[in-house]
Amino acid sequence: MKTMIEELTIRMSEAFDKAGYDGKYGKVTVSNRPDLCEFQCNGAMAAAKEYKKAPIMIANDVAAKLGDEQVFTDVSAVAPGFLNFRVSKGFLAGYLDKMAGEEKYGLDTIGTPQKIVIDYGGPNVAKPLHVGHLRSAIIGEAVKRICRYMGNEVIGDIHLGDWGLQMGLIMTELRRRKPDLPYFDPGFKGEYPEEPPFTMSELEDIYPAASARSKEDEEYKNEAMNDTFLIQQGERGHVALWQHIMNVSLPDLKKNYERLNVSFDLWKGESDARPYINGMVEDMKKGGYAYESEGALVVDISKETDTKEVPPCMILKSDGASLYTTTDLATLVDRRTSINPDKLIYIADKRQEMHFMQVFRCAEKTGVVDKDTELDFLGFGTMNGKDGKPFKTREGGVMRLEALLDEIDEEMYKKICDNHEVEEAEGRETAKTVALAAVKYGDLSNQATKDYIFDIDKFTSFEGNTGPYILYTIVRIKSILGKYSEAKGSIEAAGIREAVNETDKALMLELTRFGQVVSGAYEELAPHKICSFVYDVANAFNRFYHENRILTEEDKERQAGWIALLKITKEVLETCIDMLGFYAPDRM
Ligand code: ARG
Repeated sequence: MKTMIEELTIRMSEAFDKAGYDGKYGKVTVSNRPDLCEFQCNGAMAAAKEYKKAPIMIANDVAAKLGDEQVFTDVSAVAPGFLNFRVSKGFLAGYLDKMAGEEKYGLDTIGTPQKIVIDYGGPNVAKPLHVGHLRSAIIGEAVKRICRYMGNEVIGDIHLGDWGLQMGLIMTELRRRKPDLPYFDPGFKGEYPEEPPFTMSELEDIYPAASARSKEDEEYKNEAMNDTFLIQQGERGHVALWQHIMNVSLPDLKKNYERLNVSFDLWKGESDARPYINGMVEDMKKGGYAYESEGALVVDISKETDTKEVPPCMILKSDGASLYTTTDLATLVDRRTSINPDKLIYIADKRQEMHFMQVFRCAEKTGVVDKDTELDFLGFGTMNGKDGKPFKTREGGVMRLEALLDEIDEEMYKKICDNHEVEEAEGRETAKTVALAAVKYGDLSNQATKDYIFDIDKFTSFEGNTGPYILYTIVRIKSILGKYSEAKGSIEAAGIREAVNETDKALMLELTRFGQVVSGAYEELAPHKICSFVYDVANAFNRFYHENRILTEEDKERQAGWIALLKITKEVLETCIDMLGFYAPDRM
């Protein structure tokens, strides 16, 4: 379905034609003076050069033709040659009514769907999830849902960090604590136990202890590096222990992501790249791309156009160990083989930009990806505390995600209880739903690449540009619709009617922007655009709500039209927040 701007542009171009000017000058834009008009066309200024005529004369000629249309109202030609106007209530109602009946509200989904892999989440197994992983999960989930809504086939992959030094550190520490375990006995030939030799809470204790010690104890660190190497080499005992770490950690990770309403199609990890490394390295050597430099294997990836020096991409360290780049490249081989995507989008901290540039360039140069595969990196900024420094616990430590979410749930529960009486169980459930919206909206409403301040008081407020405010608005609409249908027995299928005043008209105009906003958010991978649309719609609705008595309206026709307007407002808002990855309760 054409956007409102496109519809208006078509008619404006016709008016230019009728007035004897080229229709190409009829481009309509949203007014930048909403106090004067809703839309404008600046074409007369450009046309003035071609026709050697004062722009205001052209604008006047065109304005005279616009009168014939049932679409434009309050048309005025303003010096030096602006055409200001508003859209007629009848045309607007017709447009919105059509939108309401179309699939996805008339959104132009993409012509040729693409197969897209989104690599996000990226937690490191056995290390506690911390707030840094929050952004990747939240932004990635939204990007995934937006790409999907646009009609693409999208595969979300968590890409676990399950292959790094932390796994070796855990083994080294475990060897100190439980030296008799069979995994450490190279002579052991039997079956390893099925029961893991630790619980989740032990594991949570082991990693930080090991990490701290390795920073002070060189020998310990070397042992951990060797253990990591042995895992990567496929040493039997190490692999068995590695599997235990995975088995114990994954359910815990799943629980955490579920709580964030984040779900992955694939739970693969760095370790899954292992079978592809040797072949890939061989190909890079055979192709003449990889060469030895100071013992390490590297690929040159600099380009003539580079203004800064781009160092070669290291593929293997001098001891033959693989690196972060190696696993990402080999994962691309895996993805090409098993999925063959048209496009891959990586969502990680923007400080990893250089890493991804190296991986992408190397992959393109060495043929790890096909020429027409798109590689995209969405780097996000840091989540800071109110002091403007990276978010920490009150004690100054790394904030664990679970602790942070617990705190917000609690805060939300208190607010809900302050607002009205509620049964504990229902209140807790609602608190979780609202807290999720608070955290996600608080994050997503900022442009992803920017740093932002994680301000719990602000995010959990029911007023202002916040998740709870959006939910509150939806709940309000649900409640009106509920009361209406209770009194009437149903919400009959009334169409959208002409606006009665400026407040319902403004709401209708906002809603017409849906398709444009979603396509824009998709093209720029910018969930914040959906947030600001949702906020505008919520504000327009609340203004309308405060100025009109919907449920006590005597004119039943008018009331039915408003109810239809409420219905589409609710649907559009819910569709948008679903793309953002949260949802509204029935009451709050
Ligand atoms: N595990 C990494 C980290 O915690 C993030 C992974 C990002 N994705 C990727 N394919 N490298 O920093």
